[in-house]
Amino acid sequence: MEQRFAGKVALVTGAASGIGRATAERFAEEGASVFGLDRDADGLAALECLAGHVVLDVSDRSACVAAVERCVAELGGVDVLANIAGIAGAQHFTELTEERYRQFMGVNVDGVVWMCQAAIPSLLERGGNIVNLASSSGLMGGAYTVAYCASKGAVVQLTRALAMEYVKTPLRVNAIAPGNVTTPLTAGFSFPSEGIDWDLVMRYSGLRGSAAPEEIAALVCFLASDDAKNIDGAIISSDGALTTG
Ligand SMILES: NC(=O)c1ccc[n+]([C@@H]2O[C@H](COP(=O)([O-])OP(=O)(O)OC[C@H]3O[C@@H](n4cnc5c(N)ncnc54)[C@H](O)[C@@H]3O)[C@@H](O)[C@H]2O)c1
Repeated sequence: MEQRFAGKVALVTGAASGIGRATAERFAEEGASVFGLDRDADGLAALECLAGHVVLDVSDRSACVAAVERCVAELGGVDVLANIAGIAGAQHFTELTEERYRQFMGVNVDGVVWMCQAAIPSLLERGGNIVNLASSSGLMGGAYTVAYCASKGAVVQLTRALAMEYVKTPLRVNAIAPGNVTTPLTAGFSFPSEGIDWDLVMRYSGLRGSAAPEEIAALVCFLASDDAKNIDGAIISSDGALTTG
């Protein structure tokens, strides 16, 4: 495999499972030293490709700052930040509790903000870049997923805004908007048992089936590589035309 990240450090959140895990493995195969972050201690410990890891909740700002400091201390800096940790779920809007709503925002939005704030000084020093995991749900509305859609819409806009703030520096900031990907998250995804209009749900399931996490990992690594050095502030869909029409 091409060694696009030889001598580079990739910091990957959500590295214990699914897309994050596939991304950590792909960065390592391409020569990066990979520092993994996740709340799942066992999942991180089982991932042999990691050069280091920290168990944390990404919604905790001080934990994100400490984890980046540890990565810089152990591996010398950060060249790529891949914000992949996330949660998903469905509920009738009127049954969305304040606690659950805050969880969506805390993990999917605050987590990305805190990680970007913590890593940008090192990324700027090293001419690095950020890849955020948004979703097709950040580009279109979906019934029974208001909190998830709102959180991923925020990831789309914070990606664009950050890209513009740093457009005069070498730092690039992009996001990927996948449709359905086969991971533990989708395997465990369920709708409320009562009152679901499946006609509405089917509109968001796409016509080309589900992607493998390795396909999204390959796209993360492409965007993070010099092959994509003209791509900045972009939201790249990988959804089998789900959001096309
Ligand atoms: N699977 C899909 O169909 C799909 C589609 C579009 C977008 N996404 C996005 O891709 C990303 C990865 O999803 P996945 O399908 O690989 O899910 P996954 O559940 O397999 O992996 C998510 C990882 O994030 C970690 N995580 C969750 N909350 C955390 C927290 N508070 N702090 C630290 N780590 C935390 C989990 O422990 C897990 O290891 C998510 O942001 C998700 O929204 C997934």
